[in-house]
Amino acid sequence: MKKRSWFAAMLVSVCMLILAACGGEEASTTNEGEDSGEKKELRVVTDAAYAPFEYMKGDKVVGFDVDFINAVAKEAGYDVKIEHVGWDPIFVEIESKRADLAISAITVNDERKESYDFSRNYFLSTNKILVPESSDIQSGEDLKGKTVAVQTSTTGQEATEALLGKNHKDIKKFENNNLAIQELLQGGADAVVADNTVVEEYVKNNPDQKLKVVEDSDSFEQEFYGLMFPKGSKLKTEFDEAINTVFDNGKYEEIYKEWFGSEPDLETLKAQQ
Ligand code: ARG
Repeated sequence: MKKRSWFAAMLVSVCMLILAACGGEEASTTNEGEDSGEKKELRVVTDAAYAPFEYMKGDKVVGFDVDFINAVAKEAGYDVKIEHVGWDPIFVEIESKRADLAISAITVNDERKESYDFSRNYFLSTNKILVPESSDIQSGEDLKGKTVAVQTSTTGQEATEALLGKNHKDIKKFENNNLAIQELLQGGADAVVADNTVVEEYVKNNPDQKLKVVEDSDSFEQEFYGLMFPKGSKLKTEFDEAINTVFDNGKYEEIYKEWFGSEPDLETLKAQQ
């Protein structure tokens, strides 16, 4: 009896060893599979309330930025999953490294560079003023004494504060830019300050709202968008290379034309880093 149970125990452990060996082999096969083709999926965060760069169409995020990041990620050898989290949360997600990168018409500036890494510039932008057609506002200076709606923590807020004063009572801050535009339409604000492409597209697509865009290159600087990464991310170099490739192989131009119906200023973009 004793001998038999010893034998049974031996048999069990031998079987377990064999199983373990098999399991090990299985695991290594999976790894090999990953190396030879399966792409890593990156978590990309955005604030999808900024048409035409990113906005919700049903439950899908669409826009220029979406097509652009898909093309660039493909070039860099990654799959991407784009998630609408809202503007302020983007910065939290990236700082805590819960997301791999953010694309959201994000202007690269020195203050943000202290906390995040950015890709090379991929889009040229500037703030402009959205007002009713009948408005007498003709410049940034004219915003003084008026109520201005902006999206919180954007360069639009910053530029408006530079004119009116930090935390000025006449600046109304909203969680997203669509809410700022709503405020203007309802008469709660005299103007919205936001990225030119966004306000220009809005006017073009909503002729019945009777709005116009005011440009003022003295009050509003030239800006550039970049992809935003957690500090030290190794993705930066890979994505910079991939952006250069889509600049050179015609893909950027193709996507740009699809969304804006015009040629991009690739020379200015390429001259930037
Ligand atoms: N370019 C501006 C900035 O970086 C506004 C961007 C807002 N983007 C958005 N998806 N809401 O501050």
